[in-house]
Amino acid sequence: MFGHRISRFGSAIVKQLAREGYLSTYGTRNLQRSYGQYLRSPQMMVQRQTRTSQEAFFLKNNRFSAFSTTSSEKDDEETKKITIIFVDKDGEEIPVKVPIGMSVLEAAHENDIDLEGACEASLACSTCHVIVMDTEYYNKLEEPTDEENDMLDLAFGLTETSRLGCQVIARPELDGVRLAIPSATRNFAVDGFVPKPH
Ligand code: FES
Repeated sequence: MFGHRISRFGSAIVKQLAREGYLSTYGTRNLQRSYGQYLRSPQMMVQRQTRTSQEAFFLKNNRFSAFSTTSSEKDDEETKKITIIFVDKDGEEIPVKVPIGMSVLEAAHENDIDLEGACEASLACSTCHVIVMDTEYYNKLEEPTDEENDMLDLAFGLTETSRLGCQVIARPELDGVRLAIPSATRNFAVDGFVPKPH
C-alpha cells in the first residue's frame, strides 16, 4: 500500500517534469516504466523516498526559478521607464513614470499634468515650454533644432535651460530630471501674436 502511494507520487513527479518540458513523451513513458520496476524492490524504497524528496526539492526550486524569471521580466519592464519630476506652478513636485521614447508632453498629458501643447507637437507654438531645473540634466539633452529654438524665442519666461516638452524624449540618462512648468505660457495662435520672420 505504502509502496503503491509512493509509486503514484513518483509517477506524478514524472508527469510534472514532462509538463514543464524537461522530458519528451517517449522519455516520460520510459521513466514511468522503469520507476515501477524500481519500486518493486522493497529494499529500494527507503532510497527511493530520499530521491523523491530530492525530486520534490528540484520541482520546488524549478518553480522558484520560473518565478524569478517573471520577476526579472517585471524588473526589465520597470527599467524601461524613467522617473520625470514635474514641478507645477505652485512648486509642487509630481513624479511620474515615463516609458523610454515618450515625449515629455505626452507624459504630462498621460498623467494629467497641466502642460498645454496647443499645436500637438508640430513646433508651431511654445505652450509646451518646460524649464529643466538642473543644468546637469539639461546638458544631457540633445541640442534643440533651429525650429525648436525659434519657438523657444517666443516662449513666456524663457530661461537658459528652457526646452519644448514635445521635443524632449525620455531616455535612460534623464531618469530623475526635474522639469518646471512656467507660471504662464504664450500661445500666439490664440493670443493673436504673430512671430517675426528671421
Ligand atoms: Fe506646440 Fe510643442 S506643442 S511646440
